[in-house]
Amino acid sequence: QSIVYRDTIDSTNTLAQQLALNGAPEGTVVIADEQTSGRGRRGRQWFSPPHSGIWMSLILRPELPLAHAAQITLVAAVALCQALSRATGVKAGIKWPNDILFDGKKCCGILTEMHAEFDQIHHLVVGIGINVNVPQEDFPDELQDIATSLQAIRGERLPRAQVVRTVLEEFEPLYRQYVANGGFGTLRDAWKANNITLGNRIVAHTARGDIEGKALDIDEFGVLLLEKDNGEREKIYSADITV
Ligand code: BTN
Repeated sequence: QSIVYRDTIDSTNTLAQQLALNGAPEGTVVIADEQTSGRGRRGRQWFSPPHSGIWMSLILRPELPLAHAAQITLVAAVALCQALSRATGVKAGIKWPNDILFDGKKCCGILTEMHAEFDQIHHLVVGIGINVNVPQEDFPDELQDIATSLQAIRGERLPRAQVVRTVLEEFEPLYRQYVANGGFGTLRDAWKANNITLGNRIVAHTARGDIEGKALDIDEFGVLLLEKDNGEREKIYSADITV
């Protein structure tokens, strides 16, 4: 296994994709001090200034059917929630499907990209962005109310290398469980124990429009089950959630 480090890069996910297509082995970690075009979910940008965060991508090659690929993001969310709670001493929460929040503000996001051959996973790139040493006032205006950092939560700076180690330590055993069990199934309880979405009234902003209701549960694939006011139930496969 190797660690590929760059001072500056467009996006660690983009480099990890190239390396994976060229045969980089499972467990390769791509990490950068700064990203010039950090990517978020749904085509958004990810604020990735130098010396401040952990911008990294993991190359994984689980031998699983493509149907299980999306669940890796929920596995990573459990690992990150546990790791960031451990690193700060403050309990973090998972907002469905995979944002890590402290006090309602996001400090960590996950962007998974995948390649498949027929219906098998060829490789996954799990991109992880963690705001570590960003003083709260350094976030751009539009992020002030929605973003936070480990420094802001903990009240002091944290060594990034130590946080990376904690994240990888938490991730590895959960990843092995996901591969051994052929999916997310056994980690569903751990996800639920760390989540802050279920039981709440939410609005799911989906490609089909906004759907409002109570978040009831997630199934063994990580799909969110929502109960609308008229009692109808909807499965939410992909959305942004506001509580
Ligand atoms: C989100 O929208 O919540 C996902 C953010 C993912 C950001 C990380 S930073 C490292 C990796 N490289 C990218 O370009 N994006 C991911």
